Amino acid sequence: MNIIVAKTAGFCFGVKNAVDKTIEELENNKKVYCLGELVHNKEVTEELIKKGAIFIEKIEEANGKTIIRAHGVPNLVYSKAKDLGIEIKDLTCPKVLHIHNIAKEYKEKSYFIFLVGQIKHPETIGTISFCGENSYIIEKEEDVEKALEKFNDSKLENSLLIAQTTFSIEKFEYIARRMQEQIENIIIKNTICNATRQRQEETEKLSKTVDIMIVIGGKHSSNSNKLYEIASKNCKKTIFIESAKELDVSIINNNSTVGIIAGASTPKKSIDEVVEILTKK
Ligand code: F3S
Repeated sequence: MNIIVAKTAGFCFGVKNAVDKTIEELENNKKVYCLGELVHNKEVTEELIKKGAIFIEKIEEANGKTIIRAHGVPNLVYSKAKDLGIEIKDLTCPKVLHIHNIAKEYKEKSYFIFLVGQIKHPETIGTISFCGENSYIIEKEEDVEKALEKFNDSKLENSLLIAQTTFSIEKFEYIARRMQEQIENIIIKNTICNATRQRQEETEKLSKTVDIMIVIGGKHSSNSNKLYEIASKNCKKTIFIESAKELDVSIINNNSTVGIIAGASTPKKSIDEVVEILTKK
């Protein structure tokens, strides 16, 4: 069996930074709260709980130092934490913070802001809060009409289009083209992060050359789902698993070439376990 692990598989630098710094905090400070799932990965979450992390859904539930994860949070969380006297350890990825800053800048300049992203994704929920009321989330092509309507109602002259860092490049470019056809002076900033871009590109290439593609990632992870979508377009035998435990090796032929990609929340340990099982087959 020929096994090819993609170079970009696994933690991106934003997630790695959040996990490493949280572990550091837990080692120095026994009680640390994490606002929301730190990464979309059960094994990482369980390990952090073992080390003492307390996962909460709302900032009001915190009773001590609280970690803000790489996806970022809505601006209200910062003010609430301040009012409640809760110390924040902000591990929002610098790339997400950069988008928040762009949103703040253009909101101040009275721009209407279109955010291309998944409505329910925590990063999108965080970013839209910095865009002000003259903004609209575009998740699918079908949302474009409604977004344009909202822009026209706002009576603003200028507009900006930005994206969730882990959005599909292909879909973003399509939506951007459609928006440009309708609004001549729209400013388009492709804020999809490089780690996402490179991983999607590598998945595209690799899945065209292998017999089987294995995507390792959380089922709730936006970027892992996108990798699965890309890989399964090119490789009919694409498997999406959360960990090595879910891998059914009986469907993999010993003469196959197997490609492995993993989402930004997948630890190296999970990738190594899959490789080990395949090697032993
Ligand atoms: Fe940051 Fe990009 Fe990862 S935005 S959290 S480096 S996917």
